[in-house]
Amino acid sequence: MRINWNAYDRETKLKLEIFRGYIREWLPVFLAGRSSFKTVALYDFFAGPGRDVEGEKGSPLIIIDELKAYLSNPKTPKVQGVEIRLYFNDDKRAKYLELKEAIEEENISNFFNVEVDNKDFTAAFNEKFNLIAAANTANLVILDQSGIKHITQDVFKKLMGCKATDILFFISSSTVKRFAGEDCIDQYFPGITKEQIDGLDADHIHRFVCKEYYRKLVSASKEYYLAPFSIKKDSNVYGLIFGSGSLYGLEKFLNVCWKLDPKTGEANYNIDRDPFRKELSIFPEDNIMKKCDEFEKKLIAEIKKGGKTNNDIYKYCLENGFLPTHVNNIFKKLQKEGILKVFPETTRPGAFYINWNNYKTGTVKVEFAIRNGGV
Ligand SMILES: C[S@@+](CC[C@H](N)C(=O)[O-])C[C@H]1O[C@@H](n2cnc3c(N)ncnc32)[C@H](O)[C@@H]1O
Repeated sequence: MRINWNAYDRETKLKLEIFRGYIREWLPVFLAGRSSFKTVALYDFFAGPGRDVEGEKGSPLIIIDELKAYLSNPKTPKVQGVEIRLYFNDDKRAKYLELKEAIEEENISNFFNVEVDNKDFTAAFNEKFNLIAAANTANLVILDQSGIKHITQDVFKKLMGCKATDILFFISSSTVKRFAGEDCIDQYFPGITKEQIDGLDADHIHRFVCKEYYRKLVSASKEYYLAPFSIKKDSNVYGLIFGSGSLYGLEKFLNVCWKLDPKTGEANYNIDRDPFRKELSIFPEDNIMKKCDEFEKKLIAEIKKGGKTNNDIYKYCLENGFLPTHVNNIFKKLQKEGILKVFPETTRPGAFYINWNNYKTGTVKVEFAIRNGGV
């Protein structure tokens, strides 16, 4: 039975590509090698029917695809004794039934359990929350809502408080812009004012919702990382927000984003209105994206504060939406120009040690300094 619905548009396919990309990065973190988690679980609370009208796979079947590919690949290491659980939910009975049927056709092995549910999100979330919050569980929670209203402060804070739980949620940010100042927005986004929104470039609304709303729900003492990916369709901007308590999780999400948007790593459009985003200018300086240019300046200012190690810079670059490879390229250039100094001075040129393994183990390999007069 396929009563479905619409064909996924280009923007939906991009969103699904981000889901797929992140699931692919996430699975090995918990399924390869040693794991301290007894259960690895993926939740898709707004799962849809499984496919679009053309048979293209939606988020639940993408999860199954990626899991099957990982588990059946003889080259990937597999942790032993971990239970893998999948949970899919949709409140529309017809979609739920279609999804159930699609999953039965998938011939899922004994390796993992799938539960398909047909509840309103709030009921499903409340029912599953204790499992998500269990100490010995690693979770990826996908919340592909249609509008804006389900990822409330309460839901966000609860998920943020769970150990080893990454979240990836959709939000129709243009709706926040369109209705700012009205009761409906006030109800779901208390504190966002019409004045704030009116002063904003419409292209930046999703960035704003991530950084000025959800970010501010995180207490200063908590290690929690967020990153937006903005998606524009016609004149509407919506997008995904990623959240994780782990910098490694953030790095993996940003890997996916930079592959899809090599210019800014955060949008399917020219989010910063860079003049030469599509064709290259004959003047090389015009081809530097505003975001990258600003980052280089901020990075230099950060190092000028003094005492910054390879691990400080690993954290700094990811928190600013950039990858260690970006920093390595900037550092190589600055080192050649004699602007960047690396201590100990015996360090091989081009070696900066900005990576997760050093960060995780707290291995301080080098310290950076900017020669007086650096830009
Ligand atoms: C944007 S679609 C998700 C699409 C899906 N991720 C996919 O890849 O096809 C949102 C889904 O959430 C469901 N939905 C809407 N409101 C809901 C609610 N309150 N609780 C649970 N599901 C809901 C809709 O039926 C719809 O299938």
